Amino acid sequence: MFDRQTTRSQGGILTEAVVDIPTVKGEADAISNDRFQGRNLGVLASGRGSNLQSIIDSIDRGELDASIAVVICNNPGALAIDRAKEHGIPWRVIDHRSFTKEGFMEAIDAALVEFEVDLVVLAGFMKVLSPSFVGGWRWRIVNIHPSLLPSFPGSHAHRDALAHGVKVTGLTIHLVDESVDGGPITFQYPVEVHEDDSEETLSGRVLIQEHIWYPRVIGWLLDGKVSVEGRIARVNK
Ligand code: GRF
Repeated sequence: MFDRQTTRSQGGILTEAVVDIPTVKGEADAISNDRFQGRNLGVLASGRGSNLQSIIDSIDRGELDASIAVVICNNPGALAIDRAKEHGIPWRVIDHRSFTKEGFMEAIDAALVEFEVDLVVLAGFMKVLSPSFVGGWRWRIVNIHPSLLPSFPGSHAHRDALAHGVKVTGLTIHLVDESVDGGPITFQYPVEVHEDDSEETLSGRVLIQEHIWYPRVIGWLLDGKVSVEGRIARVNK
């Protein structure tokens, strides 16, 4: 949806700027996020799983009151599976290549239901969720993205941030709607971009903050501290 705004340019000439403010598809009413019956997490990951590890560690340290009911990976070679095994956490490989798109989503849904998951945590999950899946888990799916959304959505956030020359990037934790990286923003944390940054150095600094903040925000969600109205998420800490 496009919102037209009239703005005055530097030269004093009136110009019309088009500001893209996406609306949240689906439920538009105020929703209190007190819908968590329990504190069971279902973590969806595709690869390295360092955010999964930060959640495991945070639970082990007693900082996050939650339990990881299942780790689901679409990639049989994901390091995230090794992390789950190492910590005695149930895990499933649901390989997207063995299913149609809807069949893939239905298999994930069935596993989440089987393990009585309350909150779905996307931790480097590289597949786009189907609208029917998102609708079935409305405001019970959370994602972490390594940029200050809505800048640099997609899978090359650091590369895009460096190519654009931004001086500050960071991380965004958001509830998931039917768009890609576009759902209600729950939390953001800024990270300075250095002149000599590579994708690796920048992602390394952002990742340190991801590991600090993702478990905390998951805790806020489970505690019912997050509510959603339209596309705005509010946190009552
Ligand atoms: C993280 O940078 C996260 O923000 C993004 O994917 C990456 C996953 O890393 N969604 P890891 O698998 O958790 O190490």
